[in-house]
Order: sequence, then C-alpha cells, then structure tokens
Amino acid sequence: MTERGPRSAYTGARYTGAMPDGPADAAAERRERAAARWELTRGAVLVPAGLPLPIAGTDQFHEYHAHPEHRYLAGTALAGSVLTYDPGEGWTLFAPVPDAETRVWTGDGPPLAALARESGLERVSPASALGGWLERRRGEPLAVIGNDDIAQRAAEYGVGSWRALEPVVDAEAGARLSAVVAELRRAKDARELALMREAAAATHRGHLAGLRKARAGMSERALQVEIEVEFFRAGAERTAYGTIVGGGPNAATLHFSPTARAFAEGELILVDAGAEVGGYASDVTRTYPVGARFAGLQRDLYALVLAVQERAIAGARPGVEYKDLHLAASLDVARGLADLGLLRGSPQALVERDAQALFFPHGLGHMLGLATHDAGGCLAGREPDDRPGLRYLRADLPLQAGYVVTIEPGVYFIRALLEDPALRERHREAVDWTRVDALLDFGGIRIEDDVLVTADGPRSLSAATPKSLEAIEELRREALEA
Ligand code: GLY
Repeated sequence: MTERGPRSAYTGARYTGAMPDGPADAAAERRERAAARWELTRGAVLVPAGLPLPIAGTDQFHEYHAHPEHRYLAGTALAGSVLTYDPGEGWTLFAPVPDAETRVWTGDGPPLAALARESGLERVSPASALGGWLERRRGEPLAVIGNDDIAQRAAEYGVGSWRALEPVVDAEAGARLSAVVAELRRAKDARELALMREAAAATHRGHLAGLRKARAGMSERALQVEIEVEFFRAGAERTAYGTIVGGGPNAATLHFSPTARAFAEGELILVDAGAEVGGYASDVTRTYPVGARFAGLQRDLYALVLAVQERAIAGARPGVEYKDLHLAASLDVARGLADLGLLRGSPQALVERDAQALFFPHGLGHMLGLATHDAGGCLAGREPDDRPGLRYLRADLPLQAGYVVTIEPGVYFIRALLEDPALRERHREAVDWTRVDALLDFGGIRIEDDVLVTADGPRSLSAATPKSLEAIEELRREALEA
C-alpha cells in the first residue's frame, strides 16, 4: 500500500459516496418539527456527523457511519460535517472542503452546492467557518447532540481549539433535545419505510444465499462472505452491523464474529445479518441445520423459539407496551423449557426469579431505523430495570403505528451463565442441571424479524426470508441435493 504524506486538518473528512437521503424537503420538515419542539429562545445547537476513526498503521479509516441524529436532521451523511441551529438564525450546515492533498488521496467530496440541494438548507458553509460562528456565540449555552467527538477532535472539524472557545456546554439541554429527536425518529414515514423495505430485500437475498450455500466443512467466515456479497449485489451500501455467524457452540455467543471454524454435521448455524440501504438498517436472524434436518432437541427448541416469536409479532400493535411483549415472550420461553423438562416450576414463578434469563438473556429486540439499535430507550419518567430478565431490553415504551421493531427471542446454552456457581446455586431447584450440563455445546437458536407496527396489525418487513421448520428443511434438502 502506498504511504500518504503528512495529514491535513481534513484527514478524517471523507466523502462517503452519493447520499440518497433526499428529498430535501423531508429533511427540512424534520428540522422544522425539531425546532418547534425544542422551543429554544437563546443559545445554539451543534449536531456533528462524527469523524471516521483511523486504522492504526495505515492512512485509512474504519468504515464510517454518520451519527443518526445528524443524518436525520441534515438529510446528508458527510463525515466531518456539523449541522448547527440558532433560534434567531435557523439552521446551517458546515461541511469539510478537502484541500488538494486530501483530494489526491480520498477524492474531491461533494461540492457545497450539492450538499445544499440534498439537505434543503439555504446556508451551507465550509467547515473552516464554524470556528467564527462559535466565536460569535461565545458565552451562550451550547447544546451538543449527534456525535460528541467534536470536543476531542475540534481541529479535524476545522474549529481549531475547542477549549480556547470556552464553550458553555449545557449537557441537560443536549439530553432534552436529543430525546425530542429520538421521539421524532421513532415513527417512520413512507420514504423511510421504502428504504427499510429495500434493506430487507437485500438482506433476504443474503440470507437465502446462506441457507443455500452452508455446508459441513465450510467456515463461518466463508458463509459470511457468501451472505454479504448478496447484500451488496442487491444494492446495500454496507452491512448494518457486524455480521454474526456462529456454528455449533459458537451460536451461543450472542454477537459472535465469524471465524475460520468449519461447520460440522449435526450442528446448527446461527446467522444474524442485515444490509443497510440509504442509511436504514435491516436486522434479521435465522438458525438452520448444517444438514437437511433439525434433529431431536434442536427441533423442539426451534419450534419453541418460533412459536414465541410468532406470538410476539402478532402482539406488536399500537398501544402495546414493548416491555409487556418481552415479558410475555419470557413467560412463553419459561413454559416451553418447563414442558421440555429443562426448567422446573410454574412459568410465572420461573420468570419472577429470572430463571428463563439463563437461556434467554437478552431483550425481545429493539427499534430499527437509521441505527440498528435505533431511537429506543425508556419513555420519559421510566427507569431502566436491572433485573437479569430485563436489563438488556432496549426499548421500554408503548408501540405506535410507524414504529419498526425487531422481534428476536432466542434460547441458548451459554457457559458464562450456566457454569456460574452463584447462578447455579440461585437456580438449583429450577433447572435440570444434569440435562443442561450435557447441552453446553448445543449453541443457540435465535429467530429475528423486522416488524412494522400499523393500525391494521403487524407487518413483517422480512417475512420473505424462510423460517418455518418445513420451509427451512426443504431449502436445506434442495441445497444439499443440488
Ligand atoms: N443484530 C445485532 C444486534 O441487535 O445487536
């Protein structure tokens, strides 16, 4: 690889390709709604997009993802940009203009006029003007939402020294404004849903390739490549998150990064992978056998997880508390595991003690949109619950029409939990430990779809991707006979 000379101030400010975020009036309308809800009479707001993170030992950067608050409000996703708001002046986008050296290495970047068209903003200025803009507001309260890396990397944003500006950062105001933007981001409009459907379609192509190509002897890494290549062929700009592929025992690690380990006959493969289109994520999980059929307990547990998931999807309606869906799914998991003899006791008593969380230790899912874990969190006035069965629930709010949530229950045999002496003691009576100890290499099963909440009932954006036992077995049989 060629080596680059000294870095300019804009080293990190790369053009990330065409930004299909238009039409500009959608972004303008979002800004108008945000400003109306913020009700600011003084001070200023900064919404930095974020800067790419350099990869040590190269002149390149990790894959860049604009902060979703910036992308939502600016309608563009250019690294190193900062959207600003001043209640007297309105909105301005400060965008990096690469110097000659940066243009040699990373390209020209979009002209400011193109950014003005894409964002619908009248004021688009070079990033070098941001320092002066801030200087003129010295002493005024400043709310920073979006990526807060500007405080540490001000020079790369073209601001010079952050400290020299003596900014009066109002963290409380930042949290309030950010919460307003999160609320606005939750219900998706028709344009956003169109992008999410495109992302789901690309994801479908990738998962189908995985279902068809997986073989004993193939590595997790090789399957990841087969899946991702289809995402990109179908128009994805990137993966929405690091693709998770776990074979056999590796499927018990919730966010397992694919390795060179080869799949073996008799194992299950868990693939959690999603394409991203126009900044919008898809997030789908399928679990399937290395061979043509689910065998023995694999079959029972797969049927259990699928039934839990389908019931939760059916319940995803406006007004329903997402936490209640999660608790109902927890109860269903407890009942199913008790029916299979792995847990002992009534489902209610098991959930009260969080015994099901030994096998289902994560939340039912999360909001989905411009981020994989989109604008979720707790509704104002609610506190996160640290109970084992609830601590990873990423949204505690009532569902509304237009929300897109993932529904992704799972059952796993995770050594870090099942070999923990304190947990074994706490759940001594509730678990058939002899059977569970024999299953420590089983891995896990997760089934995940992206569900749009509507007044007419739930709509799965990922319904095309097979998940019934019969459909998966038929696909696997055909694939292995081909
Ligand atoms: N599917 C990856 C995640 O939800 O974190």
